[in-house]
Amino acid sequence: MADLKTLINDIRDAEENGPLFENEILTGYSGKKLFGTLQRLGRHLVTPDQCYLEVGVYQGLTLLSVAKALEVGTAYGIDNFAFFDPDHKNLTIVNNRMEKLGISNAGLINQDYEDALENLDTHLNGKKVGLYFVDGPHDYRSQLMCLLLIQPYLADNCVIVVDDCDYQHVRQANRDFLQTYPEFKLLFESYSPAHPYNLKGETLEEARNGWWNGVNIMVRDTKNELERSFPPTERSRALFENDHLVHAAQFPTEAPEALRLLRSLKTFQLHKTLIFLIKALFSRPGVRGRFRSMNTFSEKLPKSRYAMVK
Ligand SMILES: C[S@@+](CC[C@H](N)C(=O)[O-])C[C@H]1O[C@@H](n2cnc3c(N)ncnc32)[C@H](O)[C@@H]1O
Repeated sequence: MADLKTLINDIRDAEENGPLFENEILTGYSGKKLFGTLQRLGRHLVTPDQCYLEVGVYQGLTLLSVAKALEVGTAYGIDNFAFFDPDHKNLTIVNNRMEKLGISNAGLINQDYEDALENLDTHLNGKKVGLYFVDGPHDYRSQLMCLLLIQPYLADNCVIVVDDCDYQHVRQANRDFLQTYPEFKLLFESYSPAHPYNLKGETLEEARNGWWNGVNIMVRDTKNELERSFPPTERSRALFENDHLVHAAQFPTEAPEALRLLRSLKTFQLHKTLIFLIKALFSRPGVRGRFRSMNTFSEKLPKSRYAMVK
C-alpha cells in the first residue's frame, strides 16, 4: 500500500530527475515531469490486481513509457483514434512502437471513452485501477464524466492524474469532482502561463521538460491526512452558463465557426472565415433547431412514461 509520503516523493523525484524511461521513438503531447511522475506512481500503485489506465493515448507516449517502467502489472489505454489523426495512422503507430520496444504489458481499448468506461469490466479482467490518467477530450462534461464513470473501478489505494489543467474548464471539472467526492483530495498542482502552443523559447522548453499544459494530481485520502484544497477557478460561472444558450441555439454545431467569425472581425480575415462558415453551414450534417432560439429537441420524447417494475 503506497502511503502519502511515497506518492509525494514520487512527484518530487520526477520533478528533480525527469523520466525513468524515455526513448526517441516515443513522441506525443506530455511533459517529461508528467510521464516521469506517472512511471514512478505506476511502480507503487500497479500490482497484479491493480492496473494503470489512461484516457487519451494518441501515439503512445504516456501509455508505453509507463508500461515500460512498470515492474509488474498492466497498462491500459482508451482512445477512439478520432482526433489529431487526419491520416488514420495513430493506432498503427502505437502498435509498431509497442513491438519495437518489446512491450507486452500494454493493452489498447479502441473505443470512445464513454463506451469504454461504461463497460470497463469487460476489458480489465477483474483488475481495479490503481493509477488513472485523464488526457482525452477536454470539454467540461467529458472531463467530469471521466472522473465519475471510473468510480466503480478505482482501487482503494488510487491516484488520479489529470493533464491539461491550465484550461479553466478542466480545473472547474476537477473542483466539482473534489467538492462532491470529499474522500478525494488534491495532492499536487502545477500550471504554466499559457498553453505550450502559445509559448516560445525558454517557457516552451520549460513546459516540454515539465508538465506540458498543467496538471492536477488527486488521491483517495482514506486516512484523511490531507487538508482539502481545490484548483483555482473563477467564481463567475458565465462561460458555463453560456452552454445553455449554445445547446438551445438554432445552429449549435456551428458555434466554433461563429466564434471564429467574431475573431476575424478583429483580425481582418472576414472574407476567408465567411466562406468557411457558409461551407460548414451547408455541407455538414450538423444539429439544426426548428426555432431561432430556445430549441428543446424534445419533439420525439414521450408525453409520459413510467419505469418498468422488475
Ligand atoms: C492529447 S492526446 C493524448 C496524448 C497522450 N497521452 C500523450 O502523452 O501523447 C488526446 C487523445 O484523446 C483522444 N480522444 C479525444 N476524444 C476522445 C473520445 N471521445 N474517446 C476516446 N478518445 C478520445 C484523441 O483521439 C487523442 O488521441
